[in-house]
Amino acid sequence: FLFAMPRFREGEVGGRFTQQIGDFGLDTNGTPNANNVGKFWMVKVGDSINAIYKVCTHLGCLYGWNSNGKIFACPCHGSQFQLDGTWIAGPAPRNLDRFKMQILDAGGNVLATSDDAGSMIKVPAGADRVVVDTGAKITGKAHF
Ligand code: FES
Repeated sequence: FLFAMPRFREGEVGGRFTQQIGDFGLDTNGTPNANNVGKFWMVKVGDSINAIYKVCTHLGCLYGWNSNGKIFACPCHGSQFQLDGTWIAGPAPRNLDRFKMQILDAGGNVLATSDDAGSMIKVPAGADRVVVDTGAKITGKAHF
């Protein structure tokens, strides 16, 4: 029966993280919200959100948010990415990876789910919370 048990508990890396839609700092105009335990950034661009993995797609360093330039910047070899994870410059071969998400209403009904490409999800009317599955990483698109 052990095989039927979930491998990770709620809120552990590799497991699921639930965040209230109102808790992301999403009104802060283009600033990502770090989830350091889950190793992802919640980002919002326009009215769409995503959960971006905090590890650079070059050689695996932890990159940071540059609030002056409004970009993600990796200290190791200088890769840069837009808020939505799109590659801008540097040796990283692809966009930042992201995690699969589901957006739920207050009753627990699923309103929206990530597509296979891990595209930004437009927050639907009635959205209450988002569940980020850090066991389901979606590889960022290669840019060359
Ligand atoms: Fe990020 Fe090399 S690990 S640029």
